[in-house]
Amino acid sequence: MADKTNSATLTFNNKQVELPIYSPTAGPDVLDIRKLYAEGGVFTYDPGYTSTASCDSAITYIDGDEGVLLHRGYPIDQLAEKSHFLEVCYLLLYGELPTADLLEDFESRVTNHTMIHEQMHMFFRGFRRDAHPMATMVGVVGAMSAFYHDSTDIADPWQREVASIRLIAKMPTIASMAFKYSIGQPFVYPRNDLDYASNFLRMCFSVPAEDYEVNPILSRAMDRIFTLHADHEQNASTSTVRLASSSGANPFASIAAGIACLWGPAHGGANQAALEMLREIGTVDQIPEYIKRAKDKDDPFRLMGFGHRVYKNFDPRAKVMKQSADEVLDLLGVENNETLKVAKELEKIALEDPYFVEKKLYPNVDFYSGIILDAMGFPTSMFTPIFAVARTVGWVSQWKEMITDPGLKIGRPRQLYTGPTYRDYVDVERR
Ligand code: CMC
Repeated sequence: MADKTNSATLTFNNKQVELPIYSPTAGPDVLDIRKLYAEGGVFTYDPGYTSTASCDSAITYIDGDEGVLLHRGYPIDQLAEKSHFLEVCYLLLYGELPTADLLEDFESRVTNHTMIHEQMHMFFRGFRRDAHPMATMVGVVGAMSAFYHDSTDIADPWQREVASIRLIAKMPTIASMAFKYSIGQPFVYPRNDLDYASNFLRMCFSVPAEDYEVNPILSRAMDRIFTLHADHEQNASTSTVRLASSSGANPFASIAAGIACLWGPAHGGANQAALEMLREIGTVDQIPEYIKRAKDKDDPFRLMGFGHRVYKNFDPRAKVMKQSADEVLDLLGVENNETLKVAKELEKIALEDPYFVEKKLYPNVDFYSGIILDAMGFPTSMFTPIFAVARTVGWVSQWKEMITDPGLKIGRPRQLYTGPTYRDYVDVERR
């Protein structure tokens, strides 16, 4: 916990409450209101948590105004350029970049946990043939608690470690199986001689009838997508994981809750929604109509893949993702694809339109990731599962940090009650 550096006095209703102020290592000061109810008899009101820090954390730092994203201090553009996903996983989990030996050991631990319990295959088959892969993932990841009893005791550091490795290692296997199941193809077992991203691509795209060779440029792009989505501070799904596990729930159940939250179109579901929107717009001449709709207060339509709760300048992940998109599209020779033309024109118009400029609505990471994944051959239904594969390490790191926090309390917000006050029950014949 940061040291108290100052205090503020809150005066209301003839009362005075002194609130400690903490200075973080970076970012704005934080007012500690924990004693406010006990000493002042009032709650604070902040429904979307726009001014509320829910925890202290040493993992990820975002400066939304400056477009900065740091993992354990290292900027995301340097990690995307010089590092790779499993090294970033190590950094997020353990706090430092690994030595060569430690990295080799970590990679081998992850690699040796990629297979899932064979009986889980039966569990997949219980889903409807055309189930959305996210629906399958929520169920299967939650069900891991029924298959891995030896890593559900959150009080045991060793079990927590095994659960973390299992989740990171098995998530690509589970996501690719959810995909294969949804398209009626046989499951493909992991191959431990391949790197994390190549193994995932192979499990998604190979079929028993022919060989599949992973293109290194696509594998690098996949690894970057994983790296850029690895963690993002206290976003909705991470906060969901923290809240779920604050009750003492096991890690598999808690991460399943995070996957469920991620699915929504305002969060991880935006990559699917963004590409579907580009397809719905269809041709460049339709763009003005959709821009008009996005600005209309009476129309719920929003430009998916634009805007961010925290980034109000630019999304640093989007910068790297845009570069990656150019590389992949170049390799695959899809520059003349109609969806891509719509994407490029929409990006240009939105960046110049006063409505989007004034409200600081820039293309976010999901605008570009959808374009890359589409070009790679993934259906839109796989976009959010891929986000879930990548974000698992963020959820796990934040969960581990929370569990070992001596100040851990069950998460339990209060409310501003607006319902009826006390009234006596009325018998049905008198209503
Ligand atoms: N299109 C049109 N108008 C928008 C958009 C958009 N995409 N995003 C925000 N606005 C407007 C909104 O109508 C509001 O206008 P006004 O002040 O006149 O009422 C203003 O901008 C502020 O919007 P908000 O909803 O209060 O902002 P927020 O910080 O609560 O929402 C957001 C952030 C990401 C949910 C929102 O920008 C959005 O819905 N974007 C589209 C979905 C999307 O791309 N989400 C992915 C986020 S990045 C991946 C991730 O981290 O999960």
